[in-house]
Amino acid sequence: MLQTLKHADEVTLNEITEEKKVRKTNELFLLFSMGSQFDHLIKQKLDALGIYCLVADPASVTADDVKKVSPVGIILSGGPASAHAEPPPFDGRIFDLGIPTLGVCLGFQVWSYHIGTPVTSSSKREFGTHLFTVTGDSPLFEGLPKQFKVLESHGDRIEPGNKLIISGITENAPVAAGHYQHLYGVQFHPEVTETEHGNEIYENFCFKICGAKDKFPASEVAQQKVIALKKRIGQKKVLLALSGGTDSSVVAYLLKEALSDNPTSDKSVCGVYIKGIDRPDDETNVIKYFDDKPWIEVKIVDATDKFLEALKGKFSMRDKRMAMRGIYKDILEAEAKEFGADFIAQGTLYTDVSESGGGYDSGARKAQIKIHHNVNLGFSLPELEPLVDSVKDTGRNIGRSINVPEDLLVRHPFPGPGLVVRIEGEITAEKLHTARKIDGIYIEELRKWNLYKEVWQAGAVVTASNITCTKGDDAAEGHVIALWAVWSVNGFTARAAELPYDFLKHVSQRMTNEIREVGGVVYRISDKPPVTIEWG
Ligand code: XMP
Repeated sequence: MLQTLKHADEVTLNEITEEKKVRKTNELFLLFSMGSQFDHLIKQKLDALGIYCLVADPASVTADDVKKVSPVGIILSGGPASAHAEPPPFDGRIFDLGIPTLGVCLGFQVWSYHIGTPVTSSSKREFGTHLFTVTGDSPLFEGLPKQFKVLESHGDRIEPGNKLIISGITENAPVAAGHYQHLYGVQFHPEVTETEHGNEIYENFCFKICGAKDKFPASEVAQQKVIALKKRIGQKKVLLALSGGTDSSVVAYLLKEALSDNPTSDKSVCGVYIKGIDRPDDETNVIKYFDDKPWIEVKIVDATDKFLEALKGKFSMRDKRMAMRGIYKDILEAEAKEFGADFIAQGTLYTDVSESGGGYDSGARKAQIKIHHNVNLGFSLPELEPLVDSVKDTGRNIGRSINVPEDLLVRHPFPGPGLVVRIEGEITAEKLHTARKIDGIYIEELRKWNLYKEVWQAGAVVTASNITCTKGDDAAEGHVIALWAVWSVNGFTARAAELPYDFLKHVSQRMTNEIREVGGVVYRISDKPPVTIEWG
């Protein structure tokens, strides 16, 4: 299936015709992926609406290509470029074709600039949730309340110009939504969960503005994945990086389904759990859920010394991530060889790829937020990453449909680089020990106070700051521990969870009392964006 439209050559046009036949539709949408961290969420929203949407490369698709594929609607995502200072690659003639177009954030700025509306750097940059007020009667907001919350993440603003019809404002943006002829735009991101009524906005665009009629619901995703895995693996063997977290557990169960016809006398899947920078309860969890299963062989590899050695003298988070990746890769390669595996499987999500600077194969610049441990490792064996087109909540739903135990699905996500990204400065055995202890207390208390399921993820960080304290009448110094917890749906965006003060105070007391190395405890209150969920 065609993943990214680059040019409308004959092969591509044939593929599109085939796909239209399968979906029994003539309606195609193009999503120009301009490098946004959220472009995949737009794709997911359109998939959920049953729209046939093809991702298009703004760096290579021309107006002539667009004419040939003849979409009923076009969407331009956001991105890190600037319409006036660092214009992204895009053939502006596409805007003159008369095809209904929705620009999101940068996408809106790009068409505004094209029609001559000034776009400038704003002194008040807008990150986080804001109150949006609908002004005017754009069909984009038909049926919606006059005011609702939206998530914005942009530094450039669109100035009111004579052609643009303004259809919405926020406190900092005189133009938060607007339209001109067949061009529509919003400065906020309707695809993220923090924006209220985002689904309705995409629905209004596709069905009311573009006049689409056909729906092809994306159902039975898990079964499609199982069939694809079965076909690819056949009777061969798979080594799985098994962390005990949700994503790799879902992959384990997908493999179980895919290989259910293979003889179990010779297990086809080996799950490797790498120990050393893990949480206190991860190993127990893997043993509890996987060790006695006839369809998977579990192997625990203690790599504590290797990790500490590789991390010695590394101070920046990037260097530490790179060092951790090296060990992770070496261990999986060695274990794959020993098991005689033909494939290496991982629970990589689209979020991991996207934040690592990858994603849709487009020429738009994409920021590398952080290089994830599991992306582009260059294994000598072919990789299986069945969840690479999914985000967290989709992965969980896939898991539910194939009976992955709920306990594994509701676990907080934990990053592959483990406690490494929760320790500032050089990683030492002492800091690793402290990081494990504070995680243990924090998670235990979240569970006791019935808050564990209320938050999407929580972490405790050993910062590089020391604080003077007095313990037992004596002067001392200890680490400042930073706690964080977020509310989120898919990890692309998140809000700082408003944990009860009494709970935080209790956790702080336990940590300072029970762990000699801890000096004081603080709580982070920033949302994503602008901060990321993990500290490092
Ligand atoms: P951030 O911190 O980027 O995290 O907002 C989004 C989600 O991804 C997790 N995370 C990682 N997961 N490898 C992973 O498998 C990584 O390198 C990595 N870095 C962050 C993070 O815990 C959060 O759930």
